[in-house]
Amino acid sequence: MNDDISNLLTEATSAVDAAASSAALDAVRVEWLGKSGRVTELLKGLGKLPADQRKARGAALNELKGAVEGRIQARLENIRGTELGARLAAERVDVTLPARPTPDGRIHPISQTIDEIVAIFGDMGFSVADGPDIEDDFHNFSALNFPPRHPAREIHDTFFLTPGADGERKLLRTHTSPIQIRVMRRENAGAAAPQFQVHRDPPLRVIGPGRVYRRDSDATHTPMFHQAEGLVIDRDINLGHLKWTLDAFARRFFELDSVVTRFRPHYFPFTEPSAEMDVQCDRSGGQVKIGEGGDWLEILGGGMVHPNILSTCGLDPDAWQGFAFGLGVDRLAMLKYGMPDLRDYFDGDARWLAHYGFSAFADPNPASGLS
Ligand code: DAH
Repeated sequence: MNDDISNLLTEATSAVDAAASSAALDAVRVEWLGKSGRVTELLKGLGKLPADQRKARGAALNELKGAVEGRIQARLENIRGTELGARLAAERVDVTLPARPTPDGRIHPISQTIDEIVAIFGDMGFSVADGPDIEDDFHNFSALNFPPRHPAREIHDTFFLTPGADGERKLLRTHTSPIQIRVMRRENAGAAAPQFQVHRDPPLRVIGPGRVYRRDSDATHTPMFHQAEGLVIDRDINLGHLKWTLDAFARRFFELDSVVTRFRPHYFPFTEPSAEMDVQCDRSGGQVKIGEGGDWLEILGGGMVHPNILSTCGLDPDAWQGFAFGLGVDRLAMLKYGMPDLRDYFDGDARWLAHYGFSAFADPNPASGLS
């Protein structure tokens, strides 16, 4: 190898060895071996040499080129190893670190209360029934014996939808009682709503929780709230069964050995006789305590199913009778969990829910405890 070439090799070798990263090494490669690199330029110059020098010079330059390439390749592997080692050290996963906390969802007090109601009635042999929030006049009013001029049918009490092409004016159901009608009529709500098809021949025991809507808004009334409808149809059902069932429910729901209840005569178009049930409580000191005191709080309406309802639903009133009731779910939740303003329930405030919500892992169960 000529002297100038071995000098070049020394120079290139130290440049390669000095490159500390793959990017720096690539710059060295371009400088020496690139299209206009120093070795490339020398090779290009071969043609200008006299023929007798060309061969030896060409061999020497190719040797230089091969040596620089080899050096770069070796250095590249070395750098890659170092870089990989650095990444492995920097990005190492420490499996001994505690897991990052993920916020777990909370069960809304209304959902919890509905689960408790369903668990109690489920334990008494009731099955769950459902119905649509958007109802028609027939299920919400007519079939339930509401007279034509009843105030609930007025625009100031009920949310009506724009009439459809057939002129029918649908509404947001004002109570869960239309579920009774759907159950007794064994209505098939269609393949689009298979969840509404719980319906079968009597005897019947169903509980139907759901949202209901009225034009009302203050601390104890929201335009949307919740009820749970109960319906029992059998051959020999009487008012005593209704009272026992609701008393037993109240004791289990409030988780007390004794809850004093009171039935007040009332009027509902779809029951005869009808009553409202109050629970005894103490309301002094801005708090509500169940099971003591001299105050009463209404938690439900109920009664014996009116024979007209049975006939409308294709059941013979001489063969079948039953009782029905409608529980105020939000009221029950307020009473049991001591939340004074109903509107807080539906504000969607995550901090409120974190405080008042329930663990998703505690499934209400009358045997092991409800809440
Ligand atoms: N639907 C009634 C309401 O919203 C509550 C009610 C009363 C339901 C008596 C019933 C019943 O099933 O028998 O005010």
